[in-house]
Amino acid sequence: MRMEDEFVSIEDIMAGKYTGESVKVRGWIYRTRGTKKLRFIVLRNSTGIIQVTIIKGELPDEEFEAAERALVESSLWVEGVVREDKRAPGGYEIQARKVNIIHFAEIFPITKDKSDEFLMDVRHLWLRSRQMTSTLKIRSTVFKLFREFFLERGFYETHSPTFVTGACEGGSTLFPVKYFDREVYLTQSWQLYAEAMIYSLEKIFTVAPSFRAEKSRTRRHLTEFWHGEVEAAWMGNEDMMKLEEEMMEYILEGVIKERRADLEYLGRDISFLKEISPPFERLPYRKVLEMLNEKGFNLEWGDDFGYDEEKALTEEFSQPFFITHFPRSKGFYHRPDPENPEVLLCHDMLAPEGYGEIIGGGERIWEKEVLLERIKEFGLDPENYSWYVDLRRYGSVPHSGFGLGLDRFITWIADIKHIKYAIPFPRTPRRVTP
Ligand code: 4AD
Ligand code: MG
Repeated sequence: MRMEDEFVSIEDIMAGKYTGESVKVRGWIYRTRGTKKLRFIVLRNSTGIIQVTIIKGELPDEEFEAAERALVESSLWVEGVVREDKRAPGGYEIQARKVNIIHFAEIFPITKDKSDEFLMDVRHLWLRSRQMTSTLKIRSTVFKLFREFFLERGFYETHSPTFVTGACEGGSTLFPVKYFDREVYLTQSWQLYAEAMIYSLEKIFTVAPSFRAEKSRTRRHLTEFWHGEVEAAWMGNEDMMKLEEEMMEYILEGVIKERRADLEYLGRDISFLKEISPPFERLPYRKVLEMLNEKGFNLEWGDDFGYDEEKALTEEFSQPFFITHFPRSKGFYHRPDPENPEVLLCHDMLAPEGYGEIIGGGERIWEKEVLLERIKEFGLDPENYSWYVDLRRYGSVPHSGFGLGLDRFITWIADIKHIKYAIPFPRTPRRVTP
């Protein structure tokens, strides 16, 4: 028998699958208390928590004493009979016949009411909290569903380099890195490379880290975030928005189905998520500018919407929505609207409840002359983009794509207050450890 076959999951015990049976369970001590004759250990592992009742005399004395000595986070396995007991958390407990402490933990530094800063310092240990365990399970499911959605629709997963020489999303957030005797940057987006790869694969996606030297310390910015990006030949801006709507519905449905208990543990109002259903509203930038100025902002044509603007804007929404037709300053690669070149055929998708932008995407310029003109307009060095321009020389086609900030998306799905709780080891301007 393989070692793991001997052990059952707490989740299965809680589902009533082993009531009355003798089982073996392994994990870590979540809580421990007791008297000289009776000890209650709440054991945790990745599948849940369960109370273990240890009665002196019902197992060898050395084992009872070891259980008495073992502190929180000690690792162990126990063997015993599963009993239904309303007083136990979750309604089941194990009456121990055997307790085997694998490692006696030192005094665990995390106790109740520790500050946010402290929990960040000991993130390598805080990952064991039920809050982080649930969040990371949701994260895993969202990544799976993202991949699944695109693979099922004939998209190929592809990859781009992390070391790059040109900016995709503006020079101000580039991270320089020493690359032997020259300076290069960490990638901000897979997009420019994706635009080369569609000529062989047509429909592609990636899941990869992107880097932004973004000083803004908001609840939604990381310097290293996980980017789900998609690019497709023959698709326009509106086609891409429809695809995003379908993806959104697919992922939300899947995550509610597979991760209900974790969402509930985090206090997410699931009924709110269940109500989300496309089509989502499309609001032109011009309209949004008016809406914000009515709310007391003082914005001019061309201004970016930051966190405050998007928070104010999305607080009243109960559905995600798109902002479309951004001004020309939005980005050099977006295709100007042939019917009104003052605006671009691009979009952002904003999450409701104050969360704001989770997707940026749109149609790309596919005509060489227009692209060269825009590179000039943005003051970029055409030398750095020569291969990108090249793609407009040999059988160029209309194409579109988008980037979804997966950490932001998870922050919203789980209704977590800060993006740093949506990723195991967050990278922010002030923090690169642990
Ligand atoms: O809007 P952005 O900058 O768009 C792009 O990078 C495009 N090249 C994507 C594409 O079309 N392939 O970034 C896309 C998304 C944002 O909507 C946001 O969700 C996320 O990436 N994002 C960040 N997430 C966390 N921290 C940051 N600093 C982020 N910057 C962007
Ligand atoms: Mg954006």
